[in-house]
Amino acid sequence: MESEAKKVVLTCVQPTGRLHLGNYLGAVKNWSELIGTHECYFGIVDMHAITIPYVPADLRKNVYECAAQYVACGLDPEKSSIFLQSSVVGHAELTWILSCICPVGNLERMTQFKDKARRHASSGICSGLLFYPVLMAADILIYNADMVPVGQDQKQHMELARDLAQKFNSVYSDTFKIPEASIPKAGARVMSLQSPDSKMSKSDSNQNGTLYITDSPDVLRKKIMSAVTDSGGEVRAAADKPGITNLMNIYSATTGKSFELIESEFSGKGYGEFKKAVAEAVVERLKPVREKYEEVVADKAYIESFLKRGTEAAQRRASRIMSKVRRKVGFLDLR
Ligand code: AMP
Ligand code: TRP
Repeated sequence: MESEAKKVVLTCVQPTGRLHLGNYLGAVKNWSELIGTHECYFGIVDMHAITIPYVPADLRKNVYECAAQYVACGLDPEKSSIFLQSSVVGHAELTWILSCICPVGNLERMTQFKDKARRHASSGICSGLLFYPVLMAADILIYNADMVPVGQDQKQHMELARDLAQKFNSVYSDTFKIPEASIPKAGARVMSLQSPDSKMSKSDSNQNGTLYITDSPDVLRKKIMSAVTDSGGEVRAAADKPGITNLMNIYSATTGKSFELIESEFSGKGYGEFKKAVAEAVVERLKPVREKYEEVVADKAYIESFLKRGTEAAQRRASRIMSKVRRKVGFLDLR
């Protein structure tokens, strides 16, 4: 009964690549804090991952690594449902149903579609890439999620999910909750160590600017010691000091110290000393995450067991909502 009263949180990540400090501090750590108070579903969206060219064997490996990283970052698979999208029956079916009320122009206008279509033009653009946001809407609506924590870049996709929920409700009568996006404030952004005007990202061309949660302490130290700083030698946050401000932000997020405290701690000391402190704080903070990751990723059977459990829980909820949807759209149930 208790879980009925809890609000449902759902979010998903594509199993592509490693999580970095920005993903950890700006996203996954915050999700883990919702677990006690909400009914949480965390999806690994392998069906989204096949919308651009990929290698099947890599996809399989990435699913294990992605699941292990989720757990290492604090998502407890005993207290939340970590599920694999392609193993829950209904995501693809709901995508189809929603696509039949979704104007094609809305999809062609999506910034991420235009972006990816440009980047992958040489290999040809598949219709799955165009339908990507409809699949994302289905991921959310199939669980009747109340709240969806996502990055700023997913705002447009979230608007579509809300529009499709509203449209379905008005065409077929009230069925879906209208999901709220929960987007972290700009202050939660971790910037690239090499180009502090752009955010830390796995697609950064200069990988020295990105701190991965699975980087060894030595690699973390090296990247932080070679972070771009600004002229002047003062440890002070300012608009014209994006490099130092970013390092202060990282130091503050990993130690809990305020900017004022950091400024006084390093007053009269050089950038070198400050960077060393930042490096040690990051190494310290990521140590248990990396250790947990290595322990989990080595245990395929454990990963499969919690993914299976999470997928079954997701399926139970999805099946309830899908039987309602099928009835509303006028499908006979002959199964
Ligand atoms: P992405 O890596 O773009 O798929 O983003 C996954 C999640 O991590 C989203 O919720 C983003 O808001 C968050 N995120 C990605 N990059 C950063 C960053 N540099 N700083 C803070 N949060 C980030
Ligand atoms: N498109 C999202 C991203 O790239 C991933 C995603 C797919 C998602 N389905 C979702 C996020 C449902 C939240 C809810 O970040």
